[in-house]
Amino acid sequence: MENTKKLNVLVVGSGGREHAIVKAVKKSPLLGRLVCTPANGGIARDCETAAVSAEDIDGIVALAKNGGFDLVISGPEVPLSMGLADKLRAEGIAVYGPNKDGATLEASKAFSKNFLKKYSVPTAAGENFTDIAKAVEYIEKAPYDVVIKASGLAAGKGVVIPENKAEAIAAAREMLEGGAFGDSGREIVVEEKMDGEEASIMLMVCGDKYIMLPASQDHKRVGEGDTGLNTGGMGAYAPAAVATKEVLDDVRKNIIAPTLAGLKTEGIDYRGTLYVGIMITKTGAKVVEFNVRFGDPECQVLMPLIESDALELMNDIANGKLDESKVKISDGFAAIVVMCAAGYPNKYAKGAKISLPADSEIPDGAWIIHAGTKASGGDILTAGGRVLGLVGTGATLTHALDKAYDLCKKTSFDGAFYRRDIAHRELRRMGLLK
Ligand code: AMP
Ligand code: GLY
Repeated sequence: MENTKKLNVLVVGSGGREHAIVKAVKKSPLLGRLVCTPANGGIARDCETAAVSAEDIDGIVALAKNGGFDLVISGPEVPLSMGLADKLRAEGIAVYGPNKDGATLEASKAFSKNFLKKYSVPTAAGENFTDIAKAVEYIEKAPYDVVIKASGLAAGKGVVIPENKAEAIAAAREMLEGGAFGDSGREIVVEEKMDGEEASIMLMVCGDKYIMLPASQDHKRVGEGDTGLNTGGMGAYAPAAVATKEVLDDVRKNIIAPTLAGLKTEGIDYRGTLYVGIMITKTGAKVVEFNVRFGDPECQVLMPLIESDALELMNDIANGKLDESKVKISDGFAAIVVMCAAGYPNKYAKGAKISLPADSEIPDGAWIIHAGTKASGGDILTAGGRVLGLVGTGATLTHALDKAYDLCKKTSFDGAFYRRDIAHRELRRMGLLK
């Protein structure tokens, strides 16, 4: 029978997203050896690790080749945009993650904007600029409020939502002339500010076939009630009911179908996650952004909802043979609360000792996901701003949240804080929050 050989798997990355991937892959009976590079303190408790940086492309290719790995799963976008998947495929190693051409959908918002326009995918009106005078003229004439985006990768910080046109012009100037975001800001996208509620739609794409994972919702702001500075994400839950069946039908028909057809026309053989950030507006769902990897922390609530074999699914996609009928998604809920170090997203301390619950205190259907941690002796220390993700699953959203918050109470380190209102929009809709 095909596929009876065990699969040796290399996961690239070191955050919460990669820890969730490791935990999902570990459940598979198909798994042989599992290595994560460069990993973190918690991942190191779940599998072997290596010390090659996620951005050392030649180092990862050498590791994959010499270690006899069958499948490489790239967590982050940067290695993909540097051509990691192309190089591995050239060596005959299967990869879950797109080649450099596909990764451009995230690495260049200007490319993405042109792509969306070319294939008539609903998105905000807008234009790309490298010339400040032309950008200023466009901003001044625009009949709508605008958003200014650095085209290149900017670790989630390259979007400015100005209060008025003067602020918009200043932001454009800082990017194009002031070197804000370095090379990533040498081209900008100026686009219409959209109104509505956001949702993240994660697709696992294999050419023209795909699995749509449950819609999720991230919480970007550091403070309760969505206040304060932007972060990498303070929590998430899935499924997000704001993405109703009607919304998802609209997304499938008007966003996903033309996007996958467009990729094919462009000659892009896409195999990996396509993250479609949408704004649910009065005139339908519109694309806010594409990412070419799982969201973090969205991945941490989606992995537990994949009931079928996640490794088999990623391996099938990597090998170009997705069979949608084999994939089973739970009809339950999952929630994650991210525990951060005091000061985050500004300057924060590292090296605090983390007190974690014993395995026997972690209920079924709950996971402790490590993000910014490192192992030191027998201890786990904080090593990042977003330190841990406490994940709960359950038959209802409140069950999932209760489990996640219960784990928060059993976990501590000096200066730890977390948002106590994850899923507040949904809870309010359900009448459970004023
Ligand atoms: P991006 O990096 O493109 O995801 O943008 C980061 C965040 O900026 C998004 O999650 C939205 O909250 C916001 N954003 C981006 N583009 C727009 C837009 N055209 N209208 C309103 N909000 C936007
Ligand atoms: N949670 C948003 C992202 O991963 O881009």
